[in-house]
Amino acid sequence: MSDMEALKRAAAVAAAEEVRDGMVLGLGTGSTVAHLLPAIAVRGLRDLRCVATSVATAEQAASLGIVVEPFDAVERLDLAIDGADQIAPDGWIVKGGGGAHVREKIVAAAADRFVVIADKTKVVDKLSAPIPLELLEYGLPATLARLTPCDLRPGMPPSPDGNLIADYAGPVDDPATLAALLSAMPGVVDHGLFPPALTAEIIIATTAGIERRALR
Ligand code: 5RP
Repeated sequence: MSDMEALKRAAAVAAAEEVRDGMVLGLGTGSTVAHLLPAIAVRGLRDLRCVATSVATAEQAASLGIVVEPFDAVERLDLAIDGADQIAPDGWIVKGGGGAHVREKIVAAAADRFVVIADKTKVVDKLSAPIPLELLEYGLPATLARLTPCDLRPGMPPSPDGNLIADYAGPVDDPATLAALLSAMPGVVDHGLFPPALTAEIIIATTAGIERRALR
């Protein structure tokens, strides 16, 4: 295992320890979450209910014996755990490198505690492009024109909800202002900017050990 994978695994293992029997748990998406699932499975919790943010996560979970339910059967989650692409000092996060940010944000918002796991390379001084977007296909050229600079992500299949994944390539001077602008844009289903208020804790694995940042 590479040093980077070992750090991802360390963050994932630390978060897996927060999972308790009887919880309803949201499972994120990505290569860090891929380390989380075996770390949860090995705990052998008998009364764990899970929802997944992507087909890939649902399939890996099922292969490990973790039962995943459709999210239409669950109203609230006790805990959701997910990776991140960028983590700013003030707790703003960029997600959506895997194009799953819409479902990931819905799951995070439904959780009493949203915990982010990452290796140290995800920590940045300031957020920057690309900012992932999920766009409705209807009126796509007009939406893209209003979002300039923005491009559809090459080779990316539609989301499980039938929408297109794009990346905003403009400046990210103030994440809150940009998030509000993108949220208000017709044709934008959602963006990958996650505000600090959504996150309870960020677990970052460094070569010196695990760093925990509590946001609330
Ligand atoms: C997927 C995501 C991922 O959580 C994010 O891209 C981090 O992925 P990885 O753990 O592979 O670096 O937001 O949409």
